[in-house]
Amino acid sequence: MGAFLPSLEEPLRPGERRRGEIERRIRGAILAGALSAGVRLPSTRTLARELHVSRTTAEEAFGQLAAEGYLVRRVGDGTYVSASMPAPRPRRASPLSALPLSGRGRALARAPACVDAVRVLPFRAAHPDYQAFPAALWNRLQNRRARHGGAGLLGYGEAEGLRALREALAGHLATSRGVRCDPSQVVVLSSSQQGFDLAARLVLDPGDEAWVEEPGYPGARGALAAAGARVVPVPVDERGIDVAAGIRLAPRARLAHLTPSHQYPLGSALTLERRLALLAWAEREGALLVEDDYDGEYRYGGRATASIQGLDRGGRVLYLGTFTKVLFPSLRLAWAVLPEGLVEPFVQARRLQDGQPPGLSQAVAADFVGEGHLGAHLRRMRALYAERRDLLEGLLRAALGEAGRLLGAEAGLHAVLPLAGDDAEVARRAAERGVEVVPLSTLFAGPPTARGLVLGYAGLSPDAIRAGSEVLARAVEAAAARERRPAARSRGSTG
Ligand SMILES: Cc1ncc(COP(=O)(O)O)c(C=O)c1O
Repeated sequence: MGAFLPSLEEPLRPGERRRGEIERRIRGAILAGALSAGVRLPSTRTLARELHVSRTTAEEAFGQLAAEGYLVRRVGDGTYVSASMPAPRPRRASPLSALPLSGRGRALARAPACVDAVRVLPFRAAHPDYQAFPAALWNRLQNRRARHGGAGLLGYGEAEGLRALREALAGHLATSRGVRCDPSQVVVLSSSQQGFDLAARLVLDPGDEAWVEEPGYPGARGALAAAGARVVPVPVDERGIDVAAGIRLAPRARLAHLTPSHQYPLGSALTLERRLALLAWAEREGALLVEDDYDGEYRYGGRATASIQGLDRGGRVLYLGTFTKVLFPSLRLAWAVLPEGLVEPFVQARRLQDGQPPGLSQAVAADFVGEGHLGAHLRRMRALYAERRDLLEGLLRAALGEAGRLLGAEAGLHAVLPLAGDDAEVARRAAERGVEVVPLSTLFAGPPTARGLVLGYAGLSPDAIRAGSEVLARAVEAAAARERRPAARSRGSTG
């Protein structure tokens, strides 16, 4: 058997100088390294048959290449690529400069993004408790749908999502989040992240201003920056985003990313007064409010704050929710509730991204929500996470006193431990002992005005919370002692 010769696979064109063409192709393959030194060629008989040429033509071509030194012919054995042919140059990975990125590509590659942790370690934020997920129930619903769902779930589906899921979500959101919508306004997405991206690209032209909360969620900031927006960080206080400051900083902004139920990361709830001020500003300026209700279902005291979407009369709010926190992130299902005029462009833009959400998962999620399992699951999770929050706060208070008081712990799956000193230093010390915390200072787009640690607790067992708190308290104390030392020394030297 001789070598496979792709360059000879193509039939010779009629009228082509057959012998010359065969020689040219074999020579080219050797020089390009496709045929390397020592490789055996097919017999002239095979070549003649495959290329529909006479055996004599094939013989002559091989003879010529042998005369030129490309081939070696061994009587009774076969024809080989000459051993003196230089080894092909190894292929080098093309340097980045050889593949210049577009301006849009560069903005995408530079934009901040959330790199979510795969393993649940104390105190990585964002994880619900996967052990507490009702997997048996989910599997039952999934099997039922797989058996009886019909071929409809296997083929292409609607880009806006399965009707049953959109209806179930509209019903659930009305009662639990005060969202007022028709199911036709609900579009199923793969993630909130996809919602940020579509909203940014549909609403913003390059150079348009967009508000983000400061500190805020890097995933949203990244999507806006990647769309070419001029991102304007607007300060946040204990009443949520400072709307008056936003209007001072960028009155003509076209979009604002907001986490009003439980500000990410500080945890404040946006006051009603500020919600109304935001709506008035958005109506006046024609801006879009992107309400990111990522963990609004979890509130441990009092009633959950209703959405801004429910207060909106002017069609200025794009409400985003996700199954990431209420079920599990790898489900990759989320939803947007859109002002009516934005539904069609949004669905069309989504078609261009990934076509449609996955059919079977949507159907199972529709049953889970529609049959009341989500409500029951959330009630159980609220009780569980509240216990864990209490445990964490109790341990930190016992170890650190007043300094162990958490911020934003009335809701959500994480809280913030404020620090007076260098939060990155505490995070580094904790990481050495297997405890991962996000320094608050890294969540500012501009210079940080507050320090602290973002602590996810919901997905952790009580034992993990106990062990993690101990490490954390020691890291906080060690960093504080280190910061006190130079001051003590300088006091000593002057006094
Ligand atoms: C503020 C905020 N929005 C959105 C998300 C993520 O949602 P998704 O997984 O649907 O993109 C997160 C996850 O941590 C978040 O913290």
